[in-house]
Amino acid sequence: MATSINKQWWKESVIYQIYPRSFNDSNGDGVGDLPGIIEKLDYLQHLGIDVIWLCPFYSSPNDDNGYDISNYYGVLDEFGTIEDVEKLLEEAKKRNIKIIIDLVVNHSSDEHQWFVESRKSKDNPYRDYYIWHPPVDGKAPNNWVSFFSGSAWQLDEATGEYYLHLFTKKQPDLNWENDNLRKEIYDMMHFWLQKGVAGFRMDVIPLISKKPNLPSFPAGFDGNFPEFYASGPRVHEFLKEMNREVLSKYDIMTVGEGIGVKPEEVNAYVGQSSNELNMVFHFGHMFLDRQTDDMLEWKQWSLVEFKEVFEKWEKALGNEGWGSLFLGNHDFPRIVSRFGDDETYRVESAKLIGTLLFTLKGTPYIYQGDEIGMTNVAYENMDDYNDVQTLNAFKEFLANGGSAEAFLPKAHLSSRDNARTPVQWDNSSQAGFTTGTPWLKVNPNHKEINVAEAVEDENSIFNYYRKLIQLRKRHEVLVYGETEIIDKPNTKIYAYTRTLEDKQVLVVLNFNVENTEFQLPQNLAAKVEADKVMLSNYPVVPHTGKDKLSLKPYEGRVYLLF
Ligand code: GLC
Ligand code: CA
Repeated sequence: MATSINKQWWKESVIYQIYPRSFNDSNGDGVGDLPGIIEKLDYLQHLGIDVIWLCPFYSSPNDDNGYDISNYYGVLDEFGTIEDVEKLLEEAKKRNIKIIIDLVVNHSSDEHQWFVESRKSKDNPYRDYYIWHPPVDGKAPNNWVSFFSGSAWQLDEATGEYYLHLFTKKQPDLNWENDNLRKEIYDMMHFWLQKGVAGFRMDVIPLISKKPNLPSFPAGFDGNFPEFYASGPRVHEFLKEMNREVLSKYDIMTVGEGIGVKPEEVNAYVGQSSNELNMVFHFGHMFLDRQTDDMLEWKQWSLVEFKEVFEKWEKALGNEGWGSLFLGNHDFPRIVSRFGDDETYRVESAKLIGTLLFTLKGTPYIYQGDEIGMTNVAYENMDDYNDVQTLNAFKEFLANGGSAEAFLPKAHLSSRDNARTPVQWDNSSQAGFTTGTPWLKVNPNHKEINVAEAVEDENSIFNYYRKLIQLRKRHEVLVYGETEIIDKPNTKIYAYTRTLEDKQVLVVLNFNVENTEFQLPQNLAAKVEADKVMLSNYPVVPHTGKDKLSLKPYEGRVYLLF
């Protein structure tokens, strides 16, 4: 056993994701910025994180808030300067915090110089940096759809050809078949690594290799287009090349956004012997509460399916790969609103979800604000929404005869803006995020939910997260131990052990709003004592009988069994 564990710093790290636009505004223009992040490094150090994942800060017309990059070497004016990036790296380093950055290279902005050139003429040297196709029967070359509504093709007047965009039409897909393009990307990666970044989060990386001849969705297509677009025939060749040319030369970490990746193929991306990436994010648990035919509609999710997802991925990774753990990010609703109860049991359920995040096997990622239990927002007017995905879906909805009134509940539930409201630093009028007018309205609940309050309150979600992080650092079993689910069919309780050699931890999580009893299996019952609780989101009370635990609404406990 012991010999099969391959220890790495990035397996032991806790990562904190920053969406700069919404994090902290230092100059009152309403937009978060790099100096604003520097101001909060002490706070992050106090929380106990090891690595920051910084979402895009590059030059961008912001059609998709920075995921449409017009210059990979430039910094968005609103965010600061290259000197600010250097200062951020330096200040973070002083606090033992590493920084990984977003690598967005499936597409660029249409305002990138490459595309400006590419669209000029069919024989322009940059033409082949993008994916162009003449019309077929006067129409788009195939029936592919964009992730952000409508066709994935845009006709460009200058040359009468279509270009491919799997995201907005201002995000043309790059053509990875072109050797020069790949070389330019690798050079750019070296540039940032030499500045001292500790690795990359790679945006929609499985999409970089397209299916040869770009075939239409087949007849009877099941509608799972992420899977259809992902993992094209050359993706592993490209990633191996990237690893050889760039990644392998530094002591860094990489995590790919594993869109469309199936468990059975994950180790092709992250297996130690694959020499590609270190981790991917999988989305198995991100759609359990969504209707397949309408991603903006909620459906009752099942805890059993939820457990099965994590189990399946941990098994698929085995000892060869390594997982990443996240429950939300800048693209999904707030985790407490989604998997917990953001009203009566907000504090309890946010702690419960945090317990899951830090005690499963894999590297945990905290999304900004989740450490204080920030919730979804419900703007009353569609004009208050900003996210291009939400707005495009709204346009389509209106075109099909829908109304704003009917769309608002969908936005409340699913909009990416739920996660993008400014971080709530204090209870002042703009939540301490800005002295000006924020680019996206602050959540009115900042009066009660904010960092200033959370840091002071020893029973806050924030201080519970700190304990979870410390616990994980103190006990290797929480990092490297194998997981075994107990009583999988239980629809209310998610319980599991983590085991590493002679060390064992038991985690019992009541995902139910009622008091719930949990029957312990014989072998564990003997070992479980109230005084073995390492952490709980309720005051610890001695349990009733040896083989039964009584759990309060959303109660979670971590027991040390050795
Ligand atoms: C990823 C990002 C998302 C972005 C998309 C296109 O999914 O997380 O925010 O819109 O890629 O770059
Ligand atoms: Ca600013």
